[in-house]
Amino acid sequence: MFKTLSTAALQSAIAVLCAVATPAGATPDMQALAEKSGCFSCHSMQNKLVGPGFAEVAAKYKGDSEAPAKLARKIREGGKGSWGRIPMPPHSNLKEAEAQQLANWVLGAG
Ligand code: HEC
Repeated sequence: MFKTLSTAALQSAIAVLCAVATPAGATPDMQALAEKSGCFSCHSMQNKLVGPGFAEVAAKYKGDSEAPAKLARKIREGGKGSWGRIPMPPHSNLKEAEAQQLANWVLGAG
């Protein structure tokens, strides 16, 4: 009995680890840029960590034609209030084009 339980626990732990290592729907280049830029210290693809999961962001802005520009600006300049009181810090080291690509990528994550 105990043995069965611990195997199940181990399997779910492995499943979680795999989900973190290979986020669904990520294109390799954008994922690398997001990793390099430190996005995953506060975001995961699906669920809220410090900031919203990228799939949650994609769902929230579905059909919003202003979302790509708005999110690109927020990625570069930081901001708060859309998801709660914790602010996202600015990433002014990113080029405008990179922030735009990341915004488009996040919006495609849902
Ligand atoms: C220090 C933690 C932290 C880091 C690092 C971080 N974020 Fe965020 N992010 C947040 C928080 C907190 C929010 C929610 C802000 C709000 O409520 O408006 C957020 C919100 C967002 C949103 C949604 C914005 C909105 O207005 O709905 C996007 C898109 C996003 N982050 C992308 C990124 C990308 C891309 C990176 C890497 C370049 C990144 N984040 C790095 C904490 C972080």
